Order: sequence, then structure tokens, then C-alpha cells
Amino acid sequence: MIEKLEKLNSIAISELYKTSDINAINLWHTKHLGKKSHLMAYLRNLGQLPAQDRPKVGKLANEIRYKLENAYDEHKNTLVSQPTTTNKNSIDITLPGRPINRGRLHITNIVLRKIYSIWADMGFQIYKSREIETDELNFELLNIPKHHPARDMWDTFHTNTPGVILRTHTSPGQIHAMRTYCPNPIRVILPGMCFRYEQITARSEIQFNQVEGLAIGTNIRFSDLKGTLSTFAQRIFNKNTKTRFRASHFPFTEPSAEMDVECFLCSGKGCGVCKNTGWLEILGCGMVHPTVLSNGGYDPNKHTGFAFGMGPERIAMLKYGIDDIRYFWGNDLRFLEQF
Ligand code: DAH
Repeated sequence: MIEKLEKLNSIAISELYKTSDINAINLWHTKHLGKKSHLMAYLRNLGQLPAQDRPKVGKLANEIRYKLENAYDEHKNTLVSQPTTTNKNSIDITLPGRPINRGRLHITNIVLRKIYSIWADMGFQIYKSREIETDELNFELLNIPKHHPARDMWDTFHTNTPGVILRTHTSPGQIHAMRTYCPNPIRVILPGMCFRYEQITARSEIQFNQVEGLAIGTNIRFSDLKGTLSTFAQRIFNKNTKTRFRASHFPFTEPSAEMDVECFLCSGKGCGVCKNTGWLEILGCGMVHPTVLSNGGYDPNKHTGFAFGMGPERIAMLKYGIDDIRYFWGNDLRFLEQF
């Protein structure tokens, strides 16, 4: 009798530690400690044993019951506290999967890609140049000498290294591209981030993108610039977009102009967005200044070229009616998810 009880105990213990989930451990409990278990049958039938055996057998059976209950509680606790993923049997493969949030392009990148493809169609390659520049390339070689008042147009972030700054526009890329390709003709766009030490407002940010353009060859004229940029405007906005060129001044171009498009919100009648002028300013442009051409290695007597610079965030604002440039860096999903 005693041996049988001990055997029963060791079988129960070894089976207990084989259980690895809640279902199995509950079944184990019914089998070894439930009303119909062998152990309970022993306890129930103690009265039928000879009187001298009863205390010994009864004591052992109760001890075993107590031990098994404790071992059961302990093992069940360890099963419950285990993360379910480590427990192979507890993954319910019939559950539907959790949807994965799909990423999307940032609105600036949507517009940038559109700009790239329009220029690619017209034979312009992308030329990437650096964001950290020297004062020489950002200003001096672009015909903006030290202390020249024209520098006021570009408030600058300086670094601890004298003469090294964050580029305030993509125009220094013109010099890099010219020095790479000289004396061959060039047709490139130069996209990238620019930085200005300005107060952040609804209309100006301290960092923003620009897309510079540069075409150099022989016999390139202002009419080429006008035709090319008008075609661009019609493709980025719509094919009925009207353009006008206003005289302007940039030290690196001569003559210089700014291109406006007819306000597509009011069709030129005048509204809040175009400040009642009927026109929206889109970009700066001009014929590359002879000094800049020769700084890039070209002979201004043989070569001519045009250049332009536009802001993709500004184009996005006009195209999608966004009234505050701060949204672009705000990382607010309610804004980003609209595009
Ligand atoms: N770099 C000018 C700016 O940041 C924009 C610009 C104007 C670029 C005229 C050009 C240009 O290439 O020809 O304001």
C-alpha cells in the first residue's frame, strides 16, 4: 500500500513538469487530485483498511496530496507568468493578423519626385552637392564678396571652423557642377537642404529644400530660360498655367528675374493667397554671371547658361493650399497623412 502510494506520487510529479500550458495542467489536476483520482480513492477508502494500517497510510496519503497541491500551484504560477510568445502551444494561429501601418512619402518628397521627373524629361540630371559649405563657395565664387550688403539676403549659420558654414542656398552646387563638367555642356538640377538663421514663422523656416537648376552651353539665351521654366510651371501646376518674368537682382546672374505664375486659386482676379496681385512668386532665375562662369572654369566669351532656384515646400504650399510652413517639420500625423 505504502509503495503504491509512493509510486503514484512520483508518476504524478513527473507528469506535472511535462505540462507546458494551462489546459494540460488543469487536466493533470483532475487526473491526480480530482474526485475520481486514485489518491482520492485511497483517502475515501481508508476505513476499509485494517485498523493498524490506517494511521500510517492515511498520514502518507494526506502528505502526498498536500505536496502535489503545492507543486501544482507553483508550476501553474510559472506557466501563467511566462510570456505567451515563448510558449509554442499558446499562439493562436487562427487569429487574424494585426495590420501593419504602411509608411508613406513625406509631402516634400512627393513634390521633389514630381520636380525630378519633370526635369528628367527635359534632359536634366540630378547633381547632389554638400550641405556644409565654405564661405568661398556659398558666397565669394557666386560673386558675393565678404561684407557685401547682398549677404543680408542669406542669414547664415556659422560653424566653429572659420569659413565653414551651413549652405544658405543650393547655388554653391553650381560651382561644384561646373568644375566637374567643364568644358562640357551642363544640364543639371541640384536638390537639397538649405539652412538660414532666421526667425521661424508661418512663412519661413530655418531649414528647407531648394532645387537649383543649371544649363550651360554655347548659344543658350534668355528665351531658352523662359521657355524651359514656363514648361516646368505648366507641368507642375497645370497646362493652362500662365507665367510672367519680373526683373530682379541676384549677384550670380545677369540679368536676373523672378518667375510668377498666375494665381490658380482666383485665376488672376486677386485673392488672399496672391495678396490681390493675381500672381504667385515661384522661383528666382537668370543668365549665369560671367564672373561665376569663369569661377567654374568656363570661358564667358564662348559659353553662356541659365540658372534658377526654387523651393519645393513653397510649391507644395501653393499646390495643396498649406498655409503654414511649420507643418513640414512638425511631424504631426494628422497633417502628414493627408498626402
Ligand atoms: N539662390 C537663390 C536664393 O536662395 C535662388 C536663386 C535665384 C538661384 C536665382 C538661382 C538663380 O540659380 O539664378 O534665394
